[in-house]
Amino acid sequence: MADLLAGKTIIITGAARGIGQAYSLALAAQGANVVIADILDTADTVAQIEAAGSGAAIGVALDVTDIDSCRAMAAAALDSYGRIDGLINNAALFGPSDKTKGAELMPFDAIDEQMWDNMMAVNVKGAWNCCKAVVPAMREQNYGKIVNISSNTVALGAAHLLHYVTSKGAIATLSRCLAKELGPEGIRVNTISPGFIQSQASLDIMENFDAHAITDEMKNVCALGREQYPDDLVGSAIYLCSELSDFVSGQTLYVDGGATFSGI
Ligand SMILES: NC(=O)c1ccc[n+]([C@@H]2O[C@H](COP(=O)([O-])OP(=O)(O)OC[C@H]3O[C@@H](n4cnc5c(N)ncnc54)[C@H](O)[C@@H]3O)[C@@H](O)[C@H]2O)c1
Repeated sequence: MADLLAGKTIIITGAARGIGQAYSLALAAQGANVVIADILDTADTVAQIEAAGSGAAIGVALDVTDIDSCRAMAAAALDSYGRIDGLINNAALFGPSDKTKGAELMPFDAIDEQMWDNMMAVNVKGAWNCCKAVVPAMREQNYGKIVNISSNTVALGAAHLLHYVTSKGAIATLSRCLAKELGPEGIRVNTISPGFIQSQASLDIMENFDAHAITDEMKNVCALGREQYPDDLVGSAIYLCSELSDFVSGQTLYVDGGATFSGI
């Protein structure tokens, strides 16, 4: 299937690399105009989309912790494409970069207050800020799709990553509450909860904390019994951004090869 997103404008945050880049390439391949937003340089993702010759793309410098930056991102999307149909809140403190150490594995009582506050500022306040920035345009259209990125560690639990996993739990809750609040205005809000994905960020974290065993541990609890890659997530992102899911809201989709089974 192609062109499921023709004519749609979708913003993907944290899209300079990794899973956000994979979402962006896949959405553009379905005909979407994509807005590639990140605190890192977005040129590589934009160039790959242009080379593929599918949907159009612009790159936007974004700091999700700054509401003015988020509003400028929404304004850039409207300037270029005239509407905002979708937002994937993918940006997070996870892998290390030249801007951040990312999520550091450590006992819960070794996390210092600054680390805790940074994690919440990027992962939770950042998603809230981006929602505030795009919802006015979605309201005017009486249509919109917000996809928040959580993690299956919220259901499974994970040692030595309390600040990160707690922030991802907040994201799942934010999604459900926003789904209720914005549903009457035609705005659908859903959550993707990935398993452990072999993105560059995960590889860097395992290398930096001598934690290579995580890959096998997660493979062993996965019903499909294999490692997971960024491209394993893109079908769900396309679905949740497309009209195929127009009657779906407030849901958490575990895209983890059957590692997590929800009882509710
Ligand atoms: N890789 C996994 O195993 C895994 C599992 C579950 C969920 N996730 C989630 O998937 C998403 C992508 O993960 P990834 O593996 O590609 O990691 P990643 O670290 O490569 O991606 C996060 C992106 O967010 C950007 N970012 C960080 N702070 C920002 C800020 N203040 N403003 C704007 N952008 C900012 C980073 O520059 C980066 O491009 C994250 O939300 C992560 O929590 C990843």
